[in-house]
Amino acid sequence: MNYTVVLPAAGSGKRMKANKNKLLLELFDKPIFLYTLEVFQQDPACEAIWLAVKEEERQIIDQYVTKYKITKVHGYADGGMERQDSVRACLEAIPPCGVVLVHDAARPFISQDVITRLVETAKACGAAIAAVPVKDTIKKADNGIITETVDRNALWMVQTPQAFTYELILKAAKAAVEDGFLGTDEAMLVERLNHPVQIVESTYENVKMTTPEDLIYGKAILESQIQEGQR
Ligand code: CTP
Ligand code: MG
Repeated sequence: MNYTVVLPAAGSGKRMKANKNKLLLELFDKPIFLYTLEVFQQDPACEAIWLAVKEEERQIIDQYVTKYKITKVHGYADGGMERQDSVRACLEAIPPCGVVLVHDAARPFISQDVITRLVETAKACGAAIAAVPVKDTIKKADNGIITETVDRNALWMVQTPQAFTYELILKAAKAAVEDGFLGTDEAMLVERLNHPVQIVESTYENVKMTTPEDLIYGKAILESQIQEGQR
């Protein structure tokens, strides 16, 4: 089953404290976002890649895309104030297609197997998201005093990719903007339309490069993926 992937890449990486878009930071010999792009370039089921970028970074990003022969990049959309705005700009730019995957450019270690299962599930159910079971004990607190220990068996840490049929995610994105609703992921936009969203179990390797120590972890994951012949 073929799909189009939308990659929001227009953030500023404040929590990384690098004074620039963290996606341009290098892991070994190339910027973070290229590792993400290479996964989709190499997946035969991926038909097209669309990136949301800041206007002032479009040129540098496009230069890397050319240099590393990421031929599936079909276009760029202008990034917005919030991640949700950046994703919507891409969704409005892409031609109609079967399944759309939304994936943070800042998650370079996504596995091919998870992508394939997400696309299949989205085709069957309309909406599917990558997630992993919560590892730690989670408690609720009020002013630092525990009020409840939440049943961990029902909790998932949500990642991207999130996969949807084109019509569903476009409808959900439009409804959110009309209602002034800001979500922290695409699934929330679909949930509020009362459409079921299916979890696809992902891997703990699929971390988002967010804070400086993630880069240390990221290099270790990359080394192990190279050793296992996945890169
Ligand atoms: N993103 C985007 N447009 C925005 C904000 C974020 O396209 N207005 C993208 C980022 O480039 C990243 C992904 O969304 O690939 C996930 O966002 P996050 O990890 O929060 O990245 P930043 O917003 O760049 O980081 P921070 O929140 O620390 O500033
Ligand atoms: Mg952010």
